[in-house]
Amino acid sequence: MLSKIAVVGAGNVGATAAQRLAEKNLARTVVMIDVVEGVPQGKGLDQRQSGPIEGFDTRVIGTQSYDDAAGTELFVVTAGIARKPGMSRDDLVRTNAGIVRSVSEQIAKVAPEAIVIVVSNPLDVMCYVAKQATGFPRERVIGMAGVLDTARYRAFLADAMDVSVEDIQAMVLGGHGDTMVPLVSCTTVSGIPVTQLLPRDQLDAIVARTRNGGAEIVTFLKTGSAYYAPSAAAVQMVESIVLDKKRILPCAAWLEGEYGLSGVFCGVPCKLGRGGLERIVEVTLTAEERAALTRSADAVRSTQALVG
Ligand code: NAI
Ligand code: 2OP
Repeated sequence: MLSKIAVVGAGNVGATAAQRLAEKNLARTVVMIDVVEGVPQGKGLDQRQSGPIEGFDTRVIGTQSYDDAAGTELFVVTAGIARKPGMSRDDLVRTNAGIVRSVSEQIAKVAPEAIVIVVSNPLDVMCYVAKQATGFPRERVIGMAGVLDTARYRAFLADAMDVSVEDIQAMVLGGHGDTMVPLVSCTTVSGIPVTQLLPRDQLDAIVARTRNGGAEIVTFLKTGSAYYAPSAAAVQMVESIVLDKKRILPCAAWLEGEYGLSGVFCGVPCKLGRGGLERIVEVTLTAEERAALTRSADAVRSTQALVG
């Protein structure tokens, strides 16, 4: 258990993440920071009062001040605006870059040794902004997207085969956008290659639905985007770090030559432990998957160029 974890942005993803962190007893105190006065305070109080029922002792406090987050060991950054119907993640870039930059500067001031998990979109570029603005090494700025995209892929596969989601092992790499790369070659059901269990056309349809997974939910919700699975994904990353589980999870990491890519955040298999990003795992991809990963990184680079 950590002493303090802070969640910046007390909206749908942030507040749900704070509740999940508290329920898992991952920190003695969870601090929720938001610019809207009263909202993090009210949500924090409400969550704290669920403790006696759910059986957690974590104190959840809401605030507008980063002073309350002094010494925080791990931040989850969800501040920003969410996608609306017809809006791409990249449409968010300019507004959210300003928000994530100012949040990151404050984090660096009050908690210079913290690990930062970025959730705000467009994810890979917001990781870049956070890394630039904090000046933190790549081990301590990690993006959440691959865990979510992989969970969607696993859920669709489990539904198609009527098997438990727990038996599906898979990875979705690349940027968090239409170019993401579900690794069919590495997808197994209890060790059995998925290609032996589902016909190619059905797999292709699931890959396409995974790429469109966020937009599918936005179309239903109309006024916002997904938050139950995204918050669960961010908390899975936090858990691996806090408990030093050293899980291999697909996360956005700053690449320095891995997979032939440099100078860009992109989703790759990462070992997460108490040191944050402890290792990037390089797996052998098919030529098609490798080309798709390069295209995805190029797409991130072109959005990254918008923020300088
Ligand atoms: P939301 O609109 O419910 O919450 C965003 C919160 O950020 C609001 O409460 C707002 O007041 C706050 N905020 C704005 N500026 C701030 C600042 N300077 N400091 C602190 N708080 C600030 O949005 P939601 O659904 O929680 O999504 C948050 C972000 O996460 C969006 O950018 C969304 O696109 C992204 N997202 C990313 C996912 C991923 O896989 N990486 C998945 C789901 C959402
Ligand atoms: C998602 O994939 C909006 O990026 C967010 O649901």
